[in-house]
Amino acid sequence: MTPIELVNLAKEARSHAYVPYSGFSVGAALLCKDGKIYQGCNIENAAFGPTVCAERTAFFKAVYDGERDFEAIAVVGGRAGEEITGLFPPCGVCRQVMREFCDLDFKLYLGRENGAFETMTLGEMLPMSFSPADLK
Ligand code: THU
Repeated sequence: MTPIELVNLAKEARSHAYVPYSGFSVGAALLCKDGKIYQGCNIENAAFGPTVCAERTAFFKAVYDGERDFEAIAVVGGRAGEEITGLFPPCGVCRQVMREFCDLDFKLYLGRENGAFETMTLGEMLPMSFSPADLK
């Protein structure tokens, strides 16, 4: 699975988004260390607060299935029904959920326009993070 293939799976996941309120559709594709892939999309709610982001949908599907070791995630987002025009960086809550299960070298591929993407590590995205190790 190459980064670009993972980004393309995030784009496909984006087409599943339920976004009647924001009009922003987000897709994620999470690569597990065993090679399995979990896709996620954002799912909004009339009460707003219960909305779940694409990244957490992917993580929670994977964790439910017993996955605990993760390699990378691709994320793409933009106005629903349109091509992406730039980066859609994961929100702070999603970064913290990633930190629950991932080391600081976990990779994020953030999709850009025209098939390009940026590579970041979780350590870069969430410096001085609070993690399960801090409770020991
Ligand atoms: N959203 C995500 O899916 N992932 C993020 O990391 C940031 C925000 C969603 C939530 C909401 O449905 C829409 O994008 C606009 O905030």
